[in-house]
Amino acid sequence: MSITWGVATAAFQIEGATAEGDRGPSHWDTFQKKPGAIFHGEDADVACDHYHRWAADLDLMAELGIPAYRLSLSWARLQPAGRGPLNPEGVRFYRDLLIGCRERGIEPYVTLYHWDLPQPLADEGGWPERSTAEAFGAYSAMVIDELGGLAENWITINEAICASFLSYDWGMQAPGHTDEDEAIRAAHHLLLAHGLALAEFRARRPEAKVGITNLLSRIRPYSQEAADITKATEARARMNEVFMNPVYRGAYGEAVEALFPQLRDPDLVRDGDLALISAPGDFAGVNHYTNVLIKADPASPFHGYQMIQVEPTPTSFGWSDTPEALHALLVHVAEDYTGLPLIVTENGATFHDYVTPDGEVHDPERVQYLAGYTDAVLKARADGVDVVGYFCWSFMDNFEWSWGYSMRFGLVYVDFATQQRIPKDSAHWYREFIAAQRDAT
Ligand code: NOJ
Repeated sequence: MSITWGVATAAFQIEGATAEGDRGPSHWDTFQKKPGAIFHGEDADVACDHYHRWAADLDLMAELGIPAYRLSLSWARLQPAGRGPLNPEGVRFYRDLLIGCRERGIEPYVTLYHWDLPQPLADEGGWPERSTAEAFGAYSAMVIDELGGLAENWITINEAICASFLSYDWGMQAPGHTDEDEAIRAAHHLLLAHGLALAEFRARRPEAKVGITNLLSRIRPYSQEAADITKATEARARMNEVFMNPVYRGAYGEAVEALFPQLRDPDLVRDGDLALISAPGDFAGVNHYTNVLIKADPASPFHGYQMIQVEPTPTSFGWSDTPEALHALLVHVAEDYTGLPLIVTENGATFHDYVTPDGEVHDPERVQYLAGYTDAVLKARADGVDVVGYFCWSFMDNFEWSWGYSMRFGLVYVDFATQQRIPKDSAHWYREFIAAQRDAT
C-alpha cells in the first residue's frame, strides 16, 4: 500500500473559543487556570483561534499541498455534559470542518479523544472511574452516527500514557494529580474506552478504519551494567508495554503486572475487558518523539532512574534528533507486536523559531529533522514494514499543554498576538518532499 503524508493537530491546542458554540469546560480548561500549572500562566482560551479561522487554515493546508490532516474532536464541545445528547453547535462545527477538508482534497484522520474530558465527568472522578470509559463508549456511538460518514480513518484514544500517568501521577497534565494508583486505573479505563469505541465502530460503521495511538519512546540501558539493564527493562514496561501488550497481545503480561499489581484485581480488569481491548483494529498508531537511555540512580525520585536523551539533542525541548530510533521502533512494533499496517500519527520537533527581518521563518533544524525521520519511515518500508501513514506534528504552532506557547512544533508559524500564519521553510520543504514522493510512485 502507498503511504499517506499528513500533518496533525488537536482540538484543545488550536481551537480556542472555549466558551462559544455551547461548548462546556473540559478538565484542561480547569487545570490551565491553576496557578503554576502552565508556563507563564498562559491558557488555550484563544490558542490559534482555529474555531473562527478553520476555513483559512484549511486553505493554507491545501496550498501547502498536504494530502491528509489528523485532527481531534473536542468531547467538551460535542457533549458538554459528558452524557446525554450531542451539542448541535458542536456537531455543526465538526461537520463543516470535515466537509471542508474533503472539499479541498484533504483526507481527514479523526481522533476521538485527545485529552479534553468534559468537566462534569472529571467531577465524577474522571478516568480512574470505569464509568468514564462507559460514557466514552456511549459518546463514540453518537459521534459515529453523526459524523462517521465524513472520514474513513479514526483514532480512538491519543497517547493513553499522557492521559493517565502524566495526568494522574506525574501531575503535569489535567487534572494534575500525583497518585500512581489513580494513574494505573485511568490507564486501564482509557484502554477500555478504546475497546468500547472500536466495538461501536464495528457495529455501526464496519467500513471505518480504526486504531489506537500509543506514544512510543525508544528506551535502552545507559550501560551494560546490571542495574541499568534492570531499570531499562522496568522503564519499557512502565511506558511502552503497559499500553502495547493489552492492545496487541491481549494481556498486560508478568512484568507490567509486577509493577502494577492493581491490574490483577478482577474489579479493575473485569472479565471481557482484555478481549474488548485487543479486538483487532485496522492499523496501529505510533507517536514518536524521544530516544532515551536509562541510568539507574537510587537517588532519583523518578522510580530510581534517570532518563537521558540520546545525542544529538538540538530541539528546544532537549529531545533527540535520531531518526534511527523511529526506524527501530517501527521494526520492533511490526516484528514483536502486530502485523497491522502502522501509521506514524505524530512526529515532530520544537526549535526557537522567529520571524526574521525578511518576514520569513527559517528553520533549517526542522528541515533536517523531518528529512531524517521521513527517510527513516521510507527505510522501514523498504525493509518490509507496512507503514502506511506519517503525520508531522504539527501543522501550526499551538498550545503545547503545560508549556503554553513556549514550544513551537509547527510547520506554520503562528504570531499569537495577531493570529498571522507564516509557513516556515520546513512547510515549503514538506510540500516539495510530498510532491517528489507522489511523482516517484
Ligand atoms: C503528543 C501529543 O499528542 C500532542 O498533543 C503534543 O503536543 C505532542 N506530543 C508534543 O508534545
